[in-house]
Amino acid sequence: MVDQDPLSLEVVRQKHGDALTIVEANVFAFLRSAKNRGEQWDYIYTLGLTDYFDDRAMDMFHKLLKAILAPQGRIVLANFLPNHLTAGWMEAVMDWHLIYRSQGQLADHARKAGFSPRTWSEATRSIAWCEMTHEEGNEA
Ligand SMILES: C[S@@+](CC[C@H](N)C(=O)[O-])C[C@H]1O[C@@H](n2cnc3c(N)ncnc32)[C@H](O)[C@@H]1O
Repeated sequence: MVDQDPLSLEVVRQKHGDALTIVEANVFAFLRSAKNRGEQWDYIYTLGLTDYFDDRAMDMFHKLLKAILAPQGRIVLANFLPNHLTAGWMEAVMDWHLIYRSQGQLADHARKAGFSPRTWSEATRSIAWCEMTHEEGNEA
């Protein structure tokens, strides 16, 4: 698990430290290092992260993910949807301003990086999910 916040990681370490490798890092630095080491990951799951990234950061993130995903690997990414039910509360009460994205926008970022995307949303239509695999013939 990768996060740049030591306090969040400490909570995870106390609850699941035996079962996880926990890395304190900026995710971009982590992915660049993984790429330079030639790592190939089978499964990458990211929740509550890309809602902080503008489109430029989003494209860089996808490019790095593309470089470290194993040929048959899979990525699952979650991002809040525009106009979701708790957007008003999050913004007005929590002063929490995230970057919302539709399923189509997530699919566009994925395709731009050379992934084949499959998107869906959950029952409350708050979160869009995007599963990405390499496009056939575009595995590296
Ligand atoms: C809303 S929390 C989600 C935490 C966790 N992924 C979850 O689903 O419960 C957002 C997290 O993203 C982390 N974060 C934001 N930008 C980051 C970056 N560039 N590199 C690493 N972590 C980052 C923050 O430290 C924070 O813990």
